[in-house]
Amino acid sequence: MCGIMGYIGFREAQPILINGLRKLEYRGYDSAGIAICDGSSIAISKAKGRIDVLENQTNESRLHGSIGIGHTRWATHGRPSDENSHPHFDQTGKFSIVHNGIIENYLELKEELIERGVVFTSETDTEVIAHLLSENYDGDLVTTVQKVATKIRGAFALGVMSEHEPDKLIAVRVASPLIIGVGAGENFIGSDIPAVLEHTRDVYVLEDYDLAVLTKDSVSVMSLQTNEPIERDLMRIEWDKEQAEKDGYAHYMLKEIHEQPRALRNTMTGRIDEAQKKVIFPTLQLTPESVQKLEKIYIVACGTAYHAGVIGKQVIERLAHIPVEVDVASEFRYRQPLFQKNTLTIVVSQSGETADTLAALREAKRNGSAVLAITNVVGSSIAREADDVITTNAGPEIAVASTKAYTSQLIGFYLLGLYLAQGKETVDQQARAEVLSALQELPDQVEAILAHADGIRQYAESIKEENQLFFLGRGLDYAVSMEGSLKLKEISYIHSEAYAAGELKHGTLALIEEGTRVIALSTQADLYEKMVSNITEVKARGAVVLGIALANNMELHRSVDEVCLIPVTNELLTPVLSVIPLQLIAYYTSVALGHDVDRPRNLAKSVTVE
Ligand code: F6R
Repeated sequence: MCGIMGYIGFREAQPILINGLRKLEYRGYDSAGIAICDGSSIAISKAKGRIDVLENQTNESRLHGSIGIGHTRWATHGRPSDENSHPHFDQTGKFSIVHNGIIENYLELKEELIERGVVFTSETDTEVIAHLLSENYDGDLVTTVQKVATKIRGAFALGVMSEHEPDKLIAVRVASPLIIGVGAGENFIGSDIPAVLEHTRDVYVLEDYDLAVLTKDSVSVMSLQTNEPIERDLMRIEWDKEQAEKDGYAHYMLKEIHEQPRALRNTMTGRIDEAQKKVIFPTLQLTPESVQKLEKIYIVACGTAYHAGVIGKQVIERLAHIPVEVDVASEFRYRQPLFQKNTLTIVVSQSGETADTLAALREAKRNGSAVLAITNVVGSSIAREADDVITTNAGPEIAVASTKAYTSQLIGFYLLGLYLAQGKETVDQQARAEVLSALQELPDQVEAILAHADGIRQYAESIKEENQLFFLGRGLDYAVSMEGSLKLKEISYIHSEAYAAGELKHGTLALIEEGTRVIALSTQADLYEKMVSNITEVKARGAVVLGIALANNMELHRSVDEVCLIPVTNELLTPVLSVIPLQLIAYYTSVALGHDVDRPRNLAKSVTVE
């Protein structure tokens, strides 16, 4: 996720672009840049770091002109650096582009361009587009962009500018958001409405495969594929600025919960070879050969990332038949873990900066273990120090309570588990292919759950006065219960506990009394009857139970007070779906209690101290 901005009009573009990028900083903030055309030539200024760094740089050396594009980056391909910052340009410097998304086939395009003598100046996927524009330019920027679009695959929102036609900007949307702001004698491109709101409240929201041509006095939208003109409705935005930054959602947490379908898709993008039904990680050092030698895996993380690891353990053990131990990072680093010769340590961290996880990574390396990081932040300390990195392309997570990072971490584990299982003789390859195919259905299934969030809001209303709550589950459901319980605690401040349902009668059952609220997850067929027995145990002591089960479960409603059904999927994948109602319960309970959802008391987003 990155933010893009464009301006064409009668004013100096530099301050407009920089202010617009500030409004988009929530989409990425590891580097920023602008390119401005003064009517004949394009000048570029870009820098690693926050927008302040770019602003200082451009204040010292201003770029003049009334047409320009800008970008604030959240690295996916290539670490944060001056060179990898956008805008990117071709070898002649006559084409400049900004891009939000991922070009899946960039490696093969890059190889072809290098064979034709093109010299690359960055490690990004985006740069291929600038060179392709230059190579294919036919005297018409619009048809050139259309031609290049047929060569690239993936997600791309683009802002394109060329010295050859300095009176226009081109905007393209394919699977990454893009809007056009319409002013008087000036027009704007933005990844999101807040970028333009200071200047206009009239916007077109582009749809996939729209191409827009902006001059200072006109905006025309056409089909990227057929060239047919398209009429989009001009929307009048009535939101205030704060609402707009949250895309109309009341809180970042709710916005991020709703961003999960996209985050999951982005985390899978470029990692599944459809033809061969295989997971591919082109840049991993962990080759199929070294995988065969792995004897043991440690997974180490904190908080929500640790909960993803608890699921990761079961996923890897079941899919790839490699023994896995999972540890809380603050314990791992001091417990003198035993490292065998062929041990892999997987560290999981949204921020990539958590002090305990980083220390655990270093401890593993000191003991000769290879380290693979699953992280959301390319260029973070953890990403830099690990031997291998699987990025979760969820985009920046602003709310303290993690949601989209967690489900994206789960996708990271599924992809890794499938990768480790590929070609292993002991693994049922048919079953592996089934998981891979069901995995790709998950984003749509999450969308379906989110479309019916209203019932969950009512449930949250009903628990807001409780002092305590229990989450029960077995196996994967227990692991998800841990995450549901943490979410509720951290933003609603209601005490809750997650319990392995079979452990209840060894102590905790004493806490169940008339009216105690219990959330029981039951998505695993082989554990279903056992789970029903545990539900009966708490109900017999007066508990009021909400059951969470797959939509094909026709029986659970007889054993509980209320049921929440989630779409049917492969049983290994249910955590990605069953956690969504739990995130929503925590969110709506916190709202009902009037708490500061995005900034809960005593907590910080990135814990860089021990
Ligand atoms: C809870 C939450 C925290 C983090 C933990 C690790 O919602 O967000 O428990 O998961 O602090 O942070 P990262 O993943 O950045 O290492």
